[in-house]
Amino acid sequence: MAPSRIRCDRTAAWGQLARHFDAGGRTFDLRRAFDVDAGRFEAFSQQAPHLFADLSKNLLDADTQALLLALARECGLESHRAAMFAGEAVNSTENRAVKHWLLRGGGQPGDADAEATRATLAAMLAYAEQVRADAAITDVVNIGIGGSDLGPQMAVAALHAHVIAGKRFHFVSNVDGHELAAVLHGLRPESTLFLVASKTFSTLETMTNARSARRWFEEKGGSDTARHFAALTSNVEAARAFGITTTFGFWDWVGGRYSLWSAIGQPIAIALGAAGFRELLAGAQAMDRHFAEQPLEQKLPVRLGLLDVWYRNFHGFSSRSIAPYHSALRRLPAYLQQLEMESNGKSVDTDGQPLPYGTSPVLWGEPGTNGQHAYFQMLHQGTDRVPVEFIAVREPAHELPAHHELLLANAVAQAQALMQGKPDAGGHRNFAGNRPSTFFVLDALTPASLGALLALHEHRVFTSGSVWGIDSFDQWGVELGKVLAQDVAGRLASGDIDGLDGSTAGLLRRLGAGRTES
Ligand code: F6P
Repeated sequence: MAPSRIRCDRTAAWGQLARHFDAGGRTFDLRRAFDVDAGRFEAFSQQAPHLFADLSKNLLDADTQALLLALARECGLESHRAAMFAGEAVNSTENRAVKHWLLRGGGQPGDADAEATRATLAAMLAYAEQVRADAAITDVVNIGIGGSDLGPQMAVAALHAHVIAGKRFHFVSNVDGHELAAVLHGLRPESTLFLVASKTFSTLETMTNARSARRWFEEKGGSDTARHFAALTSNVEAARAFGITTTFGFWDWVGGRYSLWSAIGQPIAIALGAAGFRELLAGAQAMDRHFAEQPLEQKLPVRLGLLDVWYRNFHGFSSRSIAPYHSALRRLPAYLQQLEMESNGKSVDTDGQPLPYGTSPVLWGEPGTNGQHAYFQMLHQGTDRVPVEFIAVREPAHELPAHHELLLANAVAQAQALMQGKPDAGGHRNFAGNRPSTFFVLDALTPASLGALLALHEHRVFTSGSVWGIDSFDQWGVELGKVLAQDVAGRLASGDIDGLDGSTAGLLRRLGAGRTES
């Protein structure tokens, strides 16, 4: 049983934070904060495993930070974190343990789950090496959606400098046949490996795409399904029933959006090789240790998660923009959207009681510098203040002169402009400034630094979700749409619009409901 937790807005610290906000937090001025404190950068930045984070351009001072830490203590963050690492059922609505960290090498000696994890990892990596050595396989197609797509897709793109030459990686997620058709176009069955990735092995999109891929494979003369299809799933029986005999399993204690460390990471392992995948796990594990072992005030995920609470519940900011200044991190915003919004987009506490305060912000973003020429206008001069998170990588993975310096300069300049503003420019040229941002620096984009960055965000989401008193590991909010889609699909085919609301009926008619019925 997960330990019961006091609701955050009923703690003494919450009241103190509200008073602190009214007494100066609301009007906190970053420029002044730097003027009066020469040590602000050092005080509000830190080196964590594999990455550096500068939080100094955020709307907080030492008192804010102390009160936020007091809030975390009162809410039982440390015991909740310990409960997760002890394998307790912190996913209380599904009565499940949450042990994705075990996949990164955590756990006590003799722990049966840790042993199973090690054995599965060894099998998965042996397979990855076998595929890498097989020159006849030139195309790897991952079929999966949500956590069975976003993590592997993001990581393979992010680490392209480390990806094996001679193989292409494709990711098909959408039930929209345009996506699969575009990927299949130009492939040959004999040189293609399909990885059907689905924790449940029942997701509509994935099963539809997997069936179509198998049909294409057979129609194009493919014969050896065992060689050309593998399943990555916690439902190995369903994969076998589907006809896939090459399977890599995982467990119900790995949530979909936390699963790239499991067999779901097979495309990453094929792309990077066993050593690279182990480095990714090791980077994440270094962050796990940091989260578990550092004093509360030095845990970077905690500082970030508490900042998120401060912004959401006191400043009232409802969104956060992710600005990776590295084109290889182009899928990171989408990955973080699922991680944070599916985890913390909840409006009831763990007992199912409605919450009177905001939870997950909206996350969004594009790589820099592209975003600068699109929506940064709103970030600098719009009516809403949106905290921005810059991610910069010191060493480029290319040798083109001048580009990287310009890229880094732009990232730093944007953070500077958001804060400094140009408040005396007048009228349309006025920049109010005082707009907060966080700045992450990775020395290089490597499997280890990416692993650490992702685990940092997992634990940050854990922190804010824990303070908010929600179950960050369920996702009941995705169910209703799935059920209704089944009903609507039947009605679209039959033309039966009886009992539907006017808009749904009108849209079905407009979309040609019943056209296919004889
Ligand atoms: O519909 C949401 C969801 O359940 C996600 O949580 C999950 O990552 C995704 O669907 C895919 O699920 P599966 O891996 O079971 O196909």
